[in-house]
Amino acid sequence: MKAVGFYKHLPIDHPESLLDLEVEAPQASNRDLLVEVKAVSVNPVDTKRRAAGAKPGPELKILGYDAAGVVAAVGPQVQWFKPGDKVYYAGSNQRPGTNSQLHLVDERVVGHMPSNLSFAEAAALPLTTITAWEAMFDRMGVSKSGADAGKRLLVLGGAGGVGSIAIQLAKKLARLKVIASASRPESIAWVKKLGANATVDHTKPLPEQLAALGVPEVDYIFCCSNTEQVFALLPRLIVPQGRICSIVRMAGPVDLSLLQEKSVSFSWEGMFTRSTFQTPDMEAQHDLLEDAAGLLESGALVTTFTENLGKICAANLKQAHQRIEQGHMIGKLVLEGF
Ligand SMILES: NC(=O)c1ccc[n+]([C@@H]2O[C@H](COP(=O)([O-])OP(=O)(O)OC[C@H]3O[C@@H](n4cnc5c(N)ncnc54)[C@H](OP(=O)(O)O)[C@@H]3O)[C@@H](O)[C@H]2O)c1
Repeated sequence: MKAVGFYKHLPIDHPESLLDLEVEAPQASNRDLLVEVKAVSVNPVDTKRRAAGAKPGPELKILGYDAAGVVAAVGPQVQWFKPGDKVYYAGSNQRPGTNSQLHLVDERVVGHMPSNLSFAEAAALPLTTITAWEAMFDRMGVSKSGADAGKRLLVLGGAGGVGSIAIQLAKKLARLKVIASASRPESIAWVKKLGANATVDHTKPLPEQLAALGVPEVDYIFCCSNTEQVFALLPRLIVPQGRICSIVRMAGPVDLSLLQEKSVSFSWEGMFTRSTFQTPDMEAQHDLLEDAAGLLESGALVTTFTENLGKICAANLKQAHQRIEQGHMIGKLVLEGF
C-alpha cells in the first residue's frame, strides 16, 4: 500500500524529510479496525515529531493523527463497528500514523463519521475536537449542559485548529462568554464567525486589552500557545478559584506558586494520554466523537476545515508542514485520496 513516511528527522525543506513509500498492509486483530483512509488532516504534532521525534533511529516512521475513512475489516473483539462504516478519529501516537492507504486503530478512540460531512470536512476535526473537549469538560470541569452559562473563557490561540473548535464547544454547549486571541484581520474575522464574543491580540499586552473590554479577569483560560511566555501574567487574568488548562508543553520551568494566592487550578491536557496509557476510560474518546458527530449533524457545530491541499503524498504533506510551521493557521488543512 502507499504511505508517506521518513527515516531521519529533518527540516521540512530537506528532500528526504517526507518520502512516498510502498509498505506492507497491516491486518486487524483484537479491538482494531482496519480503515481505508480517505482524507487526513495535519497538526502541529506531525511537524514536531518529524523535526525532533521521541525515538530517533533508522526505522520507518509514518505520521498522521487525523483521518476519515471507511472500515475495511475488523478485529475479532470489535463491538461497535462493521466493514463499510464511515469513521473519523485521531488514533494513537504510539502506533504508525494515518498517512497510509490502510490504517489500524483501536475502536475505543474512533467515532462514526458525521453523516452530513465529506471525508475532508470530517478529517479536519478529530484530534482538535478531542483536545478541546477534554480540556474544557474533563480537565477544567466546565459544564457541558450550561450550568456555567455566562462565565468567561479566554482562548489563547483562537483561530488555530484547537481554538476553532474550542470556541464552538464553549459557545454552543457550555454557553460561556468567549474572548479569543487572534492577531490578524483574517484570524480575527474567523474567530468572530465561529462565535467569539470579543477578541484580544496575543502580540500585545493582554491585561490592558481585557480591562478595556470590561473583563479584567476571566473564569477559565485555555492556553493553545507557548504557555511559558504568558504564564507570569495568568494570575492577573484569572478570577479567584479559576481554572487554567494548557496543551502546549513548556520550554522551561515556571513558578506554579504564582497561582496559589487565588487558589487557581492548573491542568494539562494531552489528547494522547488515554490511548498511550490505555486508561480504563479510554473509550471516553469514542463517546465524545459520537457526541460531536451528533452536534455536527444538528448544525450546532461546524467543521473547521479551511483548505484542501490535494492528494496524500509527500509533496503535499510537505506543503502542509511548512504552512503549520509558520504558526498562523486558520482552521485546518486537509489532504484527500492517494
Ligand atoms: N496537548 C495536546 O493534546 C495538544 C493537542 C493539539 C494541539 N496541541 C498543541 O497546541 C498548539 C496549538 O495547536 P493548533 O492545532 O491549534 O495549532 P495551529 O492551528 O497551528 O495554531 C495556529 C494559531 O496560533 C495562533 N498564534 C500564533 N502565535 C500565537 C501566540 N503567541 N499566542 C497565541 N496564539 C498564537 C495564530 O493566530 P494568529 O495568526 O492570529 O497570530 C494561529 O491562528 C500546538 O503547539 C500544538 O502542538 C497540543
